[in-house]
Amino acid sequence: MSLEELKGKLEALEKQALAELEQAAQEGIENLRVKYLGKKGELTSILRGLSNIDAAVRPLIGKLSNEIKTRLEEKINHKQNELKEKSEQAALSNITVDLTLPGTSMAMGSMHPITQVMEEICAIFTRLNFAVVQGPEIETDYYNFEALNFPPEHPARDMQDTFFIEDKVLLRTHTSPVQVRVFEKQKPPVKIVVPGKVYRHDADVTHSPMFHQVEGFMVDENITFADLKGVLTLFIKEMFGEQLSARFRPDFFPFTEPSAEVAMSCFACKGAGCRICKNSGWIEIMGAGMIDPAVFKHVKYDPEKYSGFAFGMGVERIAMLKYGIDNIGLFYENDLRFLKQF
Ligand code: PHE
Repeated sequence: MSLEELKGKLEALEKQALAELEQAAQEGIENLRVKYLGKKGELTSILRGLSNIDAAVRPLIGKLSNEIKTRLEEKINHKQNELKEKSEQAALSNITVDLTLPGTSMAMGSMHPITQVMEEICAIFTRLNFAVVQGPEIETDYYNFEALNFPPEHPARDMQDTFFIEDKVLLRTHTSPVQVRVFEKQKPPVKIVVPGKVYRHDADVTHSPMFHQVEGFMVDENITFADLKGVLTLFIKEMFGEQLSARFRPDFFPFTEPSAEVAMSCFACKGAGCRICKNSGWIEIMGAGMIDPAVFKHVKYDPEKYSGFAFGMGVERIAMLKYGIDNIGLFYENDLRFLKQF
C-alpha cells in the first residue's frame, strides 16, 4: 500500500468512527472503543500491517495513527461523560422534591411547671442580690429540728409529720435546716434563697408527701421587720401583679420571733371575695419572721450584733394559684397533655 493509500484509509477510519460515535447511545460507547481502539480493533490492525511497509514511510504513518488514536480516545471519553451527565440529570428531574413543605419537627421537651415556678421565684430574689444555695434532702434531727429551736419532745414537732429513716435521721420536712448549714460556714452578711424538695406524711388534693419549698433568709447588722415586709411585698408584686398588696399576721414558728403568716390580696377578685380566696379577699402564701436568737446561738452568731429575717413558701401552692390548678396530683402524673400547657 502506498503512503497516500494508507493515509486515506486511516482518515476514513477516523471519520467513520466519529460518525458512529455521533450516533452512539450510552450503552454503545464501550463497544465503539473496543471496535476502533481495542487490541483487536481496526486501528490496531492497520498498524499491524505496517511491517510490510516501506521503512521510510513507517514513522509518518505511526505518527498519524497515534494522533488519530489520541483524538478518538478524547472524543470517546468526552461523549461518554456527556451522556452520563445527561442521564443523571434526567434521573434527578424525575425525583420531585418540594422544598417548600414544612419539615417534620422534633418533639421538644420542656421544663416541668414546678421547676419553672421555682426558678421564677429564685430569679426575683437573685435580682435583689440573693444567692441560691441547696442542701441535703436527708437530714439529721439536729438540723431539721434541734438547731431550729424545736426542743426534743416539743409539741411543735407535730406541726410537721416527719418521715424518719432511722433514729435522728429523717427526710427534711422543710428547707429551713439549710439556714443552719449556711450560718455554720459563713459569717454575716448572708442573703440566700434555697429551693428544694421537702417531705411530709400528708396527702390530699392540696398536699403531697413530697413537695417543693423556697426558703429565703437575710442576716446582717440592723435588719428589721421592715426589711422583711419590703422584700416580701416586692416579691408578691413581681410574682403575681403590681396592684397586689401583702398582709402580715402573727403566727408561730419555733425558729422565728416574731413570726408572721404572709398573705397577698386575692388576684382573682381583688379583695372582694371569691372561691379562690375562700371569700376572705386574702390568700396565704408563706411563713416568715425574724430569726430567733436561739438559732443564732447554735451557730455562734452574736444576737446582739446581728439580726435577720427568714421566709419559706411552698412552690406547688404558688404554682397552683398562678395557673388555677386545683389538684396537686397533676404535677406528678407526668401526663403530657397537662405538662405541655406550660
Ligand atoms: N419552714 C416553715 C415551714 O415549712 C416556713 C418558714 C420558713 C417559716 C422560714 C418562717 C421562716 O412551714
